[in-house]
Parts: sequence; structure tokens; C-alpha cells
Amino acid sequence: MKGVILAGGLGTRLLPLTRVTNKHLLPVYDKPMIYYPIECLVKAGIQDIMVVTGGEHAGDFLKLLGNGKAFGLRELHYTYQEGEGGIADALRLAEDFVDRDKIVVMLGDNIIEKNICKAVGSFFTQQRGGKILLKQVDDPQRFGVADIDGDSVVGIEEKPAKPKTNYAVIGIYMYDAQVFEIIRTLKPSGRGELEITDVNNAYIAQGTMTYEILDGWWTDAGTFESLHRAGVLVASGGANHLDGESKAATAAGVGAL
Ligand code: DAU
Repeated sequence: MKGVILAGGLGTRLLPLTRVTNKHLLPVYDKPMIYYPIECLVKAGIQDIMVVTGGEHAGDFLKLLGNGKAFGLRELHYTYQEGEGGIADALRLAEDFVDRDKIVVMLGDNIIEKNICKAVGSFFTQQRGGKILLKQVDDPQRFGVADIDGDSVVGIEEKPAKPKTNYAVIGIYMYDAQVFEIIRTLKPSGRGELEITDVNNAYIAQGTMTYEILDGWWTDAGTFESLHRAGVLVASGGANHLDGESKAATAAGVGAL
């Protein structure tokens, strides 16, 4: 299984902080934001990782991360997104790297307390389709919001004014190789982007999307409020350590499976 971290986009919601650097290089407590998704994938046993970046400061990712030695990686792959065409547009660029493998995609501004080992393990044995992770939140209108019926997810609405549930779709997505065919069918949304929610709804329409509820806290860090919250949450513990489950996943080498 391969990992793709999406760290493109222009971070305009964080101006002026993002005038001279990329959003994902900003500090979240004691580390640059991009460290957290890399650590999250490595903890889940994924060793083959591509970072999709963009904007004017892409070279700084290489200076900071190099070949991923600080994370125990042998090498780290990079690609560059021109403009800000959306999350699915950024993912599209990883097609050759993914090479028909299964993938775990993580948004570069998402941080979780615990780990995704269990979800990655169950997706590994899932025959086809995708898997999303959900978390109940107080402000669902800021996110993709899932409507669920027992064990099935029946639809996702992107930033609905009147959310049907408070289950936010967090920025960690697992897909089989068909994801790139699905992306080719997408049309830009009202905000001019290829939406990851449209990708997820395509899998839901096929009946091949599964979900799990994430254990522990989750936050994005793309607004002043959420960036601040992310720092406070990280400082209060979590998101920093290799727990027992993650050590086992790393040892088992899920990425090599
Ligand atoms: O955080 C989870 C939410 O992320 C989901 O619940 C939503 O369904 C999903 O659309 C997304 O919402 P946002 O509007 O918060 O996404 P944002 O535009 O802030 O982008 C999140 C990350 O995706 C960003 O840190 C980098 C990457 N990205 C984004 C865009 C628009 C790219 O790599 N390229 C892009 O063009």
C-alpha cells in the first residue's frame, strides 16, 4: 500500500502567514505541520510516500524533508501541482507513483491524536472500493458531512449549510486504483475545484465505500482558529508518539504488503 500526502493549495485562509511560506511548513506546536501526516502514515506501516506540493515555496519541502530520513524512510517522492485545482486534482498527479496499488491519502493540514493502523489493516483486506474515516464534530458545516445508515455511508455533502448529521469526513481516504478513473470523470465544483467529496460519492454510488469512526481527537489546521487548536491539542499530548499498535504495524511492514 502506498501513501500520498496532499500539501498543495495556496493557504489563502492563513494570509499573511502564508505570504512567504507554504501553509504546511508552518509550525504546529513543536513541529512543521507536514510532519504530522508523514508520521501518521509511517506509524500505520506505510513506507512508500509521495508529497504533492505547489505554490512558490515548494523547494522548501525538499530542504526540510529531504529523503525522509528523519521519519525512517529510505526515500520520499515529490510532485508539483500547478495552481489550486482542488484535492482530487492534486491526487491525480500521483497516478504513476501509485501504479495500480491501493493508497492511503492524507491531507497535509490534518492531524490526529492516535493512529489509523486498524482502518488501514481492514482496508488492506477489503476486496475493492474505498474507505473513509468519520468523526463527530460541533461545526460540521465546515467539512464534508456523511449521512450514514447503520454500517453504510449513503452520501456525503461538501460543506452543507444544513448538515444532516454531525459526522465530518476527515482528511484521510483509502482508495483502490480505480480512483484515478473516477477523477477523470469529475467536473469542477462551484468553487472551481475537483472535489474529493465527488470521488467519495462515486464509490458510494458503486456500493464499495466503507467507513470507520476515528478514535481520539482530529483537527484540520487551515484556519487561524483550527491552527491554534491544533497547537493546543498537540501540546496537550498525542500525535507525537509511536504507540504499541503503530510499532506492530511498522514491524509488520503494511506498506510492503
Ligand atoms: O479537513 C477535512 C476536509 O478537507 C473534508 O471534510 C472536506 O470534505 C474536504 O473538502 C477538505 O475541506 P477543506 O475545504 O478544508 O480543504 P482545503 O481546501 O483546506 O484543503 C485541504 C488540504 O488539501 C490542503 O491543506 C492541501 C490540500 N490541497 C487542497 C487544494 C484545494 C491540495 O493539495 N491542492 C488543492 O488544490
